Amino acid sequence: MDSFVVAIDGPAGSGKSSISSIIANKLGFTHIDTGAMYRAVTLEALRLNIDLNDESNYKFVDNIKIINKLGKTYLNGKDVSKEIREKEVTNNVSTVSKFKTVREKMVDFQRASAKGLVLMDGRDIGTVVLPFADLKIFLTASAECRAKRRCLQNKEMGIEADYDVILEEIKARDYKDSHRQISPLKKADDAILLDTSDMTIDEVVNKIIYLINEKMRG
Ligand code: CDP
Repeated sequence: MDSFVVAIDGPAGSGKSSISSIIANKLGFTHIDTGAMYRAVTLEALRLNIDLNDESNYKFVDNIKIINKLGKTYLNGKDVSKEIREKEVTNNVSTVSKFKTVREKMVDFQRASAKGLVLMDGRDIGTVVLPFADLKIFLTASAECRAKRRCLQNKEMGIEADYDVILEEIKARDYKDSHRQISPLKKADDAILLDTSDMTIDEVVNKIIYLINEKMRG
């Protein structure tokens, strides 16, 4: 099969990106991390020192180049994979990503990238970006469990990691992402719901690979 598109959505820390990346490696799919793109826009907005709450300041998105490839994110040719995970970006990304100017540009780019064997993860992939995806998964887990995972992940990357602070940040971001007007975080009606609170990474990976194989076999 030369074309198969999987949409994986879910809230912060549900494991979308890590799991998508492992599956993509195992199956030879391209992994597109759309959250990393919104994070790169946020990093640029912070560098430009614009008023983040004023949509008219986001015209710069027409001229920036974001590439998300093999687990790395490049902004205008520079590797920003670590910077986009820093606290300041994390705490502002939900504000930046609520604007139409930003979303339209990102969604066009994401759709254009969805060619061949693709696993795309985000918040609105199954609902808005790729409504005709061959398989849709909605990953979730309790906020406490997601905060624990994010803490470990941050520690591994050498980024500040205080459990209570991260739990509050996750809850705040869940709220903003689910309540925004354009493309809120929402399970598509035809997405398969997987609660990963009590599952290991391997169990989630194997379950999704099973679902992909089953769908591919038709
Ligand atoms: O990895 P984490 O779960 O923290 O989030 P992410 O996937 O890196 O996404 C960061 C933020 O980008 C989210 O909290 C959303 O505000 C925004 N986002 C979005 O609006 N739409 C997407 N398709 C992906 C991310």
